[in-house]
This record gives sequence, structure tokens and C-alpha cells, in this order.
Amino acid sequence: MKTYLVTGGAGFIGSNFIHYMLKKYSDIKIINYDKLTYAGNLENLKSISKNPNYIFIQGDICNRKKLQQLFQKYDIDYVINFAAESHVDRSIRDPEVFVKTNVLGTVALLDTAKNAWIVQNGFKQGKKYLQVSTDEVYGSLGSEGYFTEKTPLDSHSPYSSSKASADLMVKAYFDTYKMPVNITRCSNNYGPYQFLEKLIPLVINNCLNKMHIPVYGDGLNIRDWLYVEDHCKAIDMVIHSGPCGEVYNIGGHNERTNIQIVKTIISYIHDNVDSSVGERLIKYVEDRKGHDRRYGIDPTKIKDKLGWYPETKFEDGIVKTIKWYLGNKDWMNNVTSGDYKKYYEKMYKDK
Ligand code: NAD
Ligand code: TYD
Repeated sequence: MKTYLVTGGAGFIGSNFIHYMLKKYSDIKIINYDKLTYAGNLENLKSISKNPNYIFIQGDICNRKKLQQLFQKYDIDYVINFAAESHVDRSIRDPEVFVKTNVLGTVALLDTAKNAWIVQNGFKQGKKYLQVSTDEVYGSLGSEGYFTEKTPLDSHSPYSSSKASADLMVKAYFDTYKMPVNITRCSNNYGPYQFLEKLIPLVINNCLNKMHIPVYGDGLNIRDWLYVEDHCKAIDMVIHSGPCGEVYNIGGHNERTNIQIVKTIISYIHDNVDSSVGERLIKYVEDRKGHDRRYGIDPTKIKDKLGWYPETKFEDGIVKTIKWYLGNKDWMNNVTSGDYKKYYEKMYKDK
């Protein structure tokens, strides 16, 4: 029975990953280690909270002592590090916590795993650390070309720069100690359980509440969207089949401008939920500082080497996603009843 330490498992992608893995494998143990910041939500895992193969432990990846105790208590085979501050707009206002969690926290976790796994002539068999990174470390593209694993790191925001720094530390642990690691760099995810600060759930929530939909700049920035389950599938494949030290880009060639995304959601809600919801809700607002223009992943390596392919077409995934939020109003109320209102007012008051 393999034991997985999933950090940040109460967030959007981490919780989807835990559901995905527990559904797929009955012979694994998952330890979810999460600080429960504003973005961590145990409601995301309510349906599996009593599963005997699942354990939740509240903790910070910067807390070495707690991490060491965890590695002493459990024979951890795989670490999958999702834990991060993940929102670009927050990183522009308050970069420091991004360095603490995303860089120092990653190093604390790497180092603890290294110390627990190292033996005289290398590392114990079958261990692996996987760093969940992002395409944003590559910077921004013009209208042509794609990010490959060989594209130089050229991050711009405090968020992406903290993730790029973490990637370089993971690389250093491979190059220096030969620690068994992989890095995955995925494009923008969408799906259930995403915190309402990110574009897609924010637009859905604002439509349902007939609030303005803030579109930054000219709305023509491009993101490459991937249904979250396809990301989880890729991570599972990299853990089991990715040779150590390799980096994998993950993306499904689903590039859309932001305004296309916004109009797609408005149109679905207009046609299926409330015909009074329309494009007049759109409000073009001041652009994000340093706003990356375009992200686009070339997923050739993971497709050719590991046989990964995305299963959910954007047209189906977006409908599935909208329906999930519509069907989970309690979850949305739970999220918006916290500090979300304050956050929203602060973030958008000048816009
Ligand atoms: P999220 O913000 O929804 O969740 C982050 C989780 O990490 C939360 O549960 C939070 O409580 C936890 N956390 C934060 N600081 C912590 C700390 N110091 N110690 C322990 N736990 C802590 O983020 P997400 O969207 O699920 O992203 C997960 C990972 O995937 C991140 O590393 C992010 O960089 C990466 N990623 C995200 C996307 C995307 O589109 N969301 C795309 C590519 C990569
Ligand atoms: P976001 O979901 O924050 O992801 P990221 O910045 O990591 O790609 O934003 C996706 C895109 O949507 C990005 O170009 C910024 C834009 N955006 C808006 O136009 N309005 C909004 O209110 C938000 C949150 C994002």
C-alpha cells in the first residue's frame, strides 16, 4: 500500500486530485497536509472524510518540525506538493507570503523528504517528490508559438516568480543530491471546488448574483484552459511513469480570450438559468499590472512519452463546471460567507 503525502489538498486542484486518486485506487493511503488558508476548504473533501484510506492533518509546509514528525510517523512514498499561494492579483498586493509558502515552504518540504529518504548510496527505492508547477513560469507569449519544457523561465508576476524559484530549487535537489523528483507545469485549470477569486467561478458567481463582471484591460489576454481532472490524470501518470528529473508541460490546446470565456458563461446562464443575465453585466476595468498576454502549452512530451491526452473537451467541461456550481449553492454560500465579501470589495473597489 503506497502512502501519498498531498500538501494543499484542501484547495482546488489538490482536492480534485484526492477524489480522483481515491476513486481510482483502493489500495493507497492519502495524507492531506494543509494549512487551511482562505483557499483551503474541507467542505471540498466532505464526501471522503470518513474513507479509512484518507487522513487530514492541518499544518504549514514551512513548519519543518511538524513535517519531520509526519515523515517519522508514516512511511511516505510520494510527496505531491500542491500547497501554494496561487492567486496572481493577491501576489501583486502582497508578494511576501508568496515567497514564504511557495519558495521557503517548498524547500522545507523537499529537505524533509530528502532527509527521510536518503540512504548511503542514494535514495530508498520507489520514493518520489512531485512539484506541481505552472505554465506561468515561462512568462508570456506573443500571438504565435508555444511553451515547451525547454522554454527558458521568464516569470513576471510575484506569483509566477515564486513558482519559478521553487522549480529551480527542485531542480537543484535533483542535480545536487539526485533526489527522485518531477516537475509538472500545467496551464489554467477549471472545474469544481475552485475558489471564487479565479476568473471562471468568479464569473459564474457574479452572473448568479447579477453583479458586474470585471474584465481586465481589453479582455483579449489568452489562457489555455484544462479541465482539472485531466490535470489530475497527468500527475498520476508522471508519479508512476515519469523518469526522475523530468519536467512535463500539461495542456490541451484550449486557448480562449478572457472575453470569450466570460461571454460563454453568460450565454449558458442566460439560456438555461435566468434570461435576465446578459452581456450588460460586463464591465471593462483597469488592467492587471504586468498582465501576461498569452499562455499556450505544447504538451507533445507528456503525450509522446507517457501517453497522456486530455479527455474533456472545453465545450463539455465548461458546461459540466457551470452545472456543478449551480448544483452546489451551499458550497458557494459557504465560500462567500467568509472574508470573501471583504476581499472582493477591496480588490475591485477602484475598478
Ligand atoms: P488553491 O489556492 O486553490 O489551493 C492552495 C491550497 O494550499 C489551499 O488548500 C491552502 O490552504 C494550501 N496552503 C497554502 N499555503 C499553505 C502552507 N503554507 N502550508 C500548507 N498548505 C498551504 O490553489 P490551486 O489552484 O488548487 O493550485 C494548486 C497548485 O497548482 C499550486 O501550486 C498552483 O501553483 C498550481 N497550479 C494551479 C493552476 C490553476 O489553474 N489553479 C494551474 C497550474 C498550476
Ligand atoms: P485568473 O483566473 O486569476 O488566472 P491567472 O491569472 O493565473 O491566469 O485569471 C485568468 C485571466 O482572467 C487573466 O488573464 C486575468 C483575467 N481576469 C479578469 O479579467 N477579471 C477577473 O476578475 C479575474 C479574476 C481575472
